[in-house]
Amino acid sequence: MSVLKVDKLCKKIGKKEILKDVSFEINEGDILAFIGPNGAGKTTTIKCILGLQKMNSGRVFINGYDIKHDFVQAINKVGSIVEEPDVYMYLSGFENLKLQMRMYKNVVVDDIYRVVDLVGLESRIHDKVSKYSLGMRQRLGIAMALLHSPNLLVLDEPTNGLDPEGIKDLRVLLKRLAKNGVAILISSHNLSELESFCNRVCIISDGKVIEEASIHELKELDENKYILKINDSKKCKDFLLSYDKIVDANHIEVVKDEEEIAAFIKTLVQHDILIYEVTKLSMTLEEAFMKKARGDKHD
Ligand SMILES: Nc1ncnc2c1ncn2[C@@H]1O[C@H](COP(=O)(O)OP(=O)(O)OP(=O)(O)O)[C@@H](O)[C@H]1O
Ligand SMILES: [Mg+2]
Repeated sequence: MSVLKVDKLCKKIGKKEILKDVSFEINEGDILAFIGPNGAGKTTTIKCILGLQKMNSGRVFINGYDIKHDFVQAINKVGSIVEEPDVYMYLSGFENLKLQMRMYKNVVVDDIYRVVDLVGLESRIHDKVSKYSLGMRQRLGIAMALLHSPNLLVLDEPTNGLDPEGIKDLRVLLKRLAKNGVAILISSHNLSELESFCNRVCIISDGKVIEEASIHELKELDENKYILKINDSKKCKDFLLSYDKIVDANHIEVVKDEEEIAAFIKTLVQHDILIYEVTKLSMTLEEAFMKKARGDKHD
């Protein structure tokens, strides 16, 4: 079921077109990586979705409600962090959560303990936020975003300031939420951080969506590269094509599809070349993204 639908979003600031026909969709249980270079329009898109900025044209539907016509219902089940989490520094984490709790009818103190536990802030929750590290503030921000059990979570660069442990915790938490049907939009610069747990990707560049696909589909853009460990690289020189290469005395790198690699292995075997290992290299999301971005510029 579609939780968020962004349809032809356009945004101008002054004369500058910041967003040009941005469209994408997130379903229940999807974790969408929203990626793109600095200034691409990620934060602006997110602010329009949350009603923090007005759009010039286009429509945004959350849980079927148009944010222009039914804003209160649309935003009702959304949790978000945009840029820095919005917290009172002179209050404790717990007091911040209590303030947040009052904004919702159905949230009780037990929910506070539930989210504090989820983000792993138990031991510091009664400390003043001014004494928190950046990563701890991010954790608190996530707890606040989750307090009313939203079914859409919008996180603008939530890994900012998190240590590797914090990133791992976030990954586990987001996966668990998605499993329970929460739809998640997450922007970040660190693509390798996202590819292990996002199932979809939307790439934005210069205010335009240049790709919307599953992570799997995006990686398929890659040629099929294989590394073979063999007894003597020189022996297979005659069978290599221009884009294949000898890595060292015992390794070669070849580009083949499934049929071709099978035939290639057979040829090597027929010529008494010993094959110890065949490894398929898959592209990281970052590589796929760079390739896509480069490809679009050459059009
Ligand atoms: N208030 C503003 N006035 C003028 N231009 C703005 C304003 N806010 C944003 N922009 C411009 O809009 C474009 C998109 O900015 P946005 O913050 O959405 O990018 P982003 O993808 O979030 O970048 P980053 O990765 O750096 O966070 C940029 O060119 C930026 O300069
Ligand atoms: Mg931004």
